[in-house]
Amino acid sequence: MAKIRLAVLVSGGGTNLQAIIDACAAGQIEAEIALVLSSRSKAFALQRAEKAGIQTVVCSPRHYNNTQQYSRAVSAELDKQEIDLIILAGFMSIFSSEFIAKYRNRIMNTHPSLLPSFGGRGCYGKRVHQQVLDYGVKISGATIMFVSEDIDTGPIILQEAVAVAEDETLESLQQKVLRLEHKLYPQAISLFAADRLQIRGRRVHILPAKTKS
Ligand code: GAR
Repeated sequence: MAKIRLAVLVSGGGTNLQAIIDACAAGQIEAEIALVLSSRSKAFALQRAEKAGIQTVVCSPRHYNNTQQYSRAVSAELDKQEIDLIILAGFMSIFSSEFIAKYRNRIMNTHPSLLPSFGGRGCYGKRVHQQVLDYGVKISGATIMFVSEDIDTGPIILQEAVAVAEDETLESLQQKVLRLEHKLYPQAISLFAADRLQIRGRRVHILPAKTKS
C-alpha cells in the first residue's frame, strides 16, 4: 500500500509533530511527512523537522492582508507537494472557508480538552487548561477532529479523558493532556491512512481493520 503524504502545520514547540515523526519512523503510520509548514519562523517545531530531514517552509499570516490571501498562499505550498492529509499540530492561524471546503475531511486538528467543552475562538494552548481548572471540572482530555468552518466543531475522530487531580496545576494538566495527544494523533492518522474513517453527519465511524488476503 502506498504511503499517504502528510503536511504538518505548526506554530510552536512541536511535541505533537515529534510524536508523528516518531510514529512514521516506527512504521506505526503508513504515511510520510512531505512538508512541515510553520506560521512562525522561530517555532521550535521547525528544528525538529529539519533534524528529521523533512522539508520545511515558513508562511506567516503577517505577510498577507487577510485570511483568504493567507489561506491561498498555504494552499499553494500544499498543492506543490500533492498532500493527502493536512495535520494541524499546535497551528495557531485561521483558514478561510474556501480553504476548508477545498480540503474537506482532509484536515485534522488536535485540541487539549474534551470538546465541545473548553473550545472555540480564543481557547487554545494553556488558556484551555486554565479554564478547565477555573471551572473545576473533574475530567479533561484530548480531542482529535476533522476541521470544519467553525472553530473546534468538526466531526470528532478520537477522544480520551484524564482525571483532574486534587493538586493539579496548569503545567501538570498540560503535560498529561499532551501525552494523550501524542498517543491519539498518530492513531487517528493511521486510521485515515488505512481508509478506516467513515464520516456520517457529525459522527466518525471507525471501520474494522481490513484483513490481508
Ligand atoms: C497542543 O496541546 C494542542 O492541542 C494545542 O496546542 C498544543 C501544541 O503543542 N492546540 C490548540 O489549543 C488548538 N486549539 P505542540 O506544539 O507541542 O504540539
